[in-house]
Amino acid sequence: MTTDNLKTPMVALGTWAWGDSGEIGDGYFGTHLTRAGLEEVADKAHAAGFTLWDTARVYGMGRSETVLGEVLKRYARSDYQLSTKFTPQAAGTSDDPVAEMLEQSLANLGTDYIDLYWIHNPADVPRWTPRLIPLLKSGKVKHVGVSNHNLSEIKLADRILGEAGFRVEAVQNHYSLLYRSSEQAGILDYCRNQGIPFFAYMVLEQGALTGKYSPENPLPEGSNRAENYNGILRQLKALTDKLASIGQSQGAAAPDVAAAWAIAKGTTPIIGVTKPHYIESLVRAGSITLTSDDIAELEALADAANVNTRGWWEQAM
Ligand SMILES: NC(=O)c1ccc[n+]([C@@H]2O[C@H](COP(=O)([O-])OP(=O)(O)OC[C@H]3O[C@@H](n4cnc5c(N)ncnc54)[C@H](OP(=O)(O)O)[C@@H]3O)[C@@H](O)[C@H]2O)c1
Repeated sequence: MTTDNLKTPMVALGTWAWGDSGEIGDGYFGTHLTRAGLEEVADKAHAAGFTLWDTARVYGMGRSETVLGEVLKRYARSDYQLSTKFTPQAAGTSDDPVAEMLEQSLANLGTDYIDLYWIHNPADVPRWTPRLIPLLKSGKVKHVGVSNHNLSEIKLADRILGEAGFRVEAVQNHYSLLYRSSEQAGILDYCRNQGIPFFAYMVLEQGALTGKYSPENPLPEGSNRAENYNGILRQLKALTDKLASIGQSQGAAAPDVAAAWAIAKGTTPIIGVTKPHYIESLVRAGSITLTSDDIAELEALADAANVNTRGWWEQAM
């Protein structure tokens, strides 16, 4: 049985884009990140008390984990928490591909345990979920969660773990103003009722909801996110303007308010942090008050934008 409860922070730090850094990044974000810049991100996060870092073995095919591990070396292991994932589609050919991928993550991150280990998506829940049990028993994994699972898949994973005295301790799905499928499908309510923390990813829609990008200043040319979002930026303007105006009255900016919305909805946003000053945005997000009218207005504008931002890897919930 898991001995200590998972401690859920107000926000978690996303590092998918860190996979772009260096010579073998995957170019998904089209972002140029330097080692010095990422060290500054980590220092600011540490100083602000944000200590849960989310990555995956497949982000930049190991690059995100490796860079993160190197950057965090300056801190004691007990000062931060690592969240990484087993991705079924990238499973190896050994007898236990989950244990195999975990070993790769441990080596990349330069650690001997993962605080929160996820099954990245629900490709064959009965096959992969039981593989978490020996990892929990060995102590190499402290807590487990499921990502991109629908409600029945979450319950199935919970049943499988439950037979060994463990449970699904966290859920991680795409959840933003523009993409509320987990709420509509009852997953947020289920998590709340069961006391399971819900981690919301892509709360800023990879930058499209920050107001910083526009048809005149699009997302980096040639990147996957440019392909996914540049065509809809014009439709997002009324929403990002509203995020900015709510923020202005509280000394904050549009992305701070988008993150504050996710917090107000009872979730833990995982925000992709590529620049040091984004940490200050997260600090501000924690002190923003949103009224129920603010939330209703934002959600109405999001619905009026009439866009579908479901990732290519995601299923309908
Ligand atoms: N489980 C899954 O399947 C899954 C899928 C997707 C993501 N995730 C996790 O969730 C994390 C978050 O998602 P994401 O990184 O894809 O997207 P995101 O958090 O929606 O957006 C991150 C991007 O927004 C911009 N940004 C962040 N803070 C900002 C601020 N304060 N002001 C202005 N711009 C800001 C940055 O763009 P610029 O770099 O252009 O400035 C950054 O790269 C990932 O890093 C990953 O850890 C998990």
